[in-house]
Amino acid sequence: MEKDLQVNIPIMDEKHEEFLVLLQRIQNCPKAEFMPLFVQMIEHTKEHFAFEEEIMNANAFYAKGEHFDEHKNLLGEMEYFYEKAKKLPAFGKSYINEYALDKFKRHIINIDSQLAMFIKDQKINL
Ligand SMILES: [Fe+2]
Ligand SMILES: [Fe+2]
Repeated sequence: MEKDLQVNIPIMDEKHEEFLVLLQRIQNCPKAEFMPLFVQMIEHTKEHFAFEEEIMNANAFYAKGEHFDEHKNLLGEMEYFYEKAKKLPAFGKSYINEYALDKFKRHIINIDSQLAMFIKDQKINL
């Protein structure tokens, strides 16, 4: 994973890495695997976000509201494009190829990094 995407909390970096691998797969997959992999990406994202939200809840993270909203938006968008892709595959493709990576990177750099810093400051054991 690129250095600027590492938050240096191993379990968070691991989930981000898994997402990036999955995204690469879906970007290069045969047509027949596109929708199943899209589902897998949504499931992985749900799990990844729920994991971070549990940490935030358990430790009363100060910027919880903003982070939860961002998760809801990102996931909502992913599900929206999945639904659209059922009828308009090109729509789903353009989301996956031109949009998803950028969105994900921005979340890590702007939002997850705050949480990672909090985890380090508070010396939270994960
Ligand atoms: Fe994350
Ligand atoms: Fe997050």
